[in-house]
Amino acid sequence: MITKCLFPAAGYGTRFLPATKSMPKEMMPIVNKPLIEFGVDEALEAGMTGMCIVTGRGKHSLMDHFDINYELEHQISGTAKEEQLKDIRSIMHSAHFTFIRQREMKGLGHAILTGRKLIGDEPFAVVLADDLCVNEDEGVLKQMVALYNQFRCSIVAVEEVPDEETHKYGVIKGEMIKDDIYRVDDMVEKPEPGTAPSNMAIIGRYILTPDIFDIIKETPPGKGGEIQITDALLTQAKKGCVLAYKFKGKRFDCGSVPGFIEATNYVYDNLYHE
Ligand code: G1P
Repeated sequence: MITKCLFPAAGYGTRFLPATKSMPKEMMPIVNKPLIEFGVDEALEAGMTGMCIVTGRGKHSLMDHFDINYELEHQISGTAKEEQLKDIRSIMHSAHFTFIRQREMKGLGHAILTGRKLIGDEPFAVVLADDLCVNEDEGVLKQMVALYNQFRCSIVAVEEVPDEETHKYGVIKGEMIKDDIYRVDDMVEKPEPGTAPSNMAIIGRYILTPDIFDIIKETPPGKGGEIQITDALLTQAKKGCVLAYKFKGKRFDCGSVPGFIEATNYVYDNLYHE
C-alpha cells in the first residue's frame, strides 16, 4: 500500500517573479484553487492520506492553507460563503500533513532525501505541484499506483514532447514491455539540445521505492551542480528495475506562463463550479 505522498515545495519559483517573491509558487491559484491543492486531491484519489511537504524559507502559507483559520471560519459560519470552504475542509478531514524544511536548495534529489524522515521505509509517491495533471477518468497517481501494485518498483511518469523541448526535462530511453510501459535503460537530466536519448520526458509524478534514499545519498551533483533524482533513478534502474509510464491524461506546465494560462482556461472551462 502506498499511503504517503511527498511534495517538494522549497523551490524559489523564479520563472514567476515578482508574483513568487513572497508567495510560494505552489500557492499560485489555478482559478480559485492553489496548485498544491490539486496535487493533494490527486494523491487522495490514489488512496494516499499522508501528505509530506518539503518546505523552505517563506513558505508559511503552505502550512496555513491546510490548517484551520479560526477568524475566517467564525466570520462566515452559518452563511452561504461556508460552501466555498467545503473542498478544503474535506481534505483536512481525510488527510494529515507533515512538513520539513529544506535549508539549502541542492536539487530535486536533495529535496526528496530531505523528506526521508517523513516517509520512513516504505514506497511513496512524489508530486511536483507545478505539473498539473488532469484526466477525465482516473488521475495519473491512481494509474501509477495500480502499476506499482503489479510491478513493485519505482515508476516515473513520461510524456512525449517535441524534440526541441527535451532539454527542459529529464529524458528516458527504454524498451516497451507493454502498452505505454517502458523498462528504463537510460535517463538523462536536461540533455543538451540534439543529444536526448528519446523524446520521452519525465513529468512531475513518481512512485519511488525507499532504497532510493540511500542511492540519492551516494549520487554526486549532476546537471546544474544539483543532486538530481534522475541520476539516482538511473542507478536504481541499472541495479534493478525502473519503469516509465506514458500516462493517460493532460498535463500543464504551470511553472511556465503559457502553461499556467492554458491550465487556467482548461480548469475554468471544465472543472470550475461556482
Ligand atoms: C524536474 C526534474 C526533471 C523533470 C521535471 C518535470 O525538473 O528534474 O527531470 O522532467 O521536473 O517537471 P524542474 O522542472 O524542476 O527543473
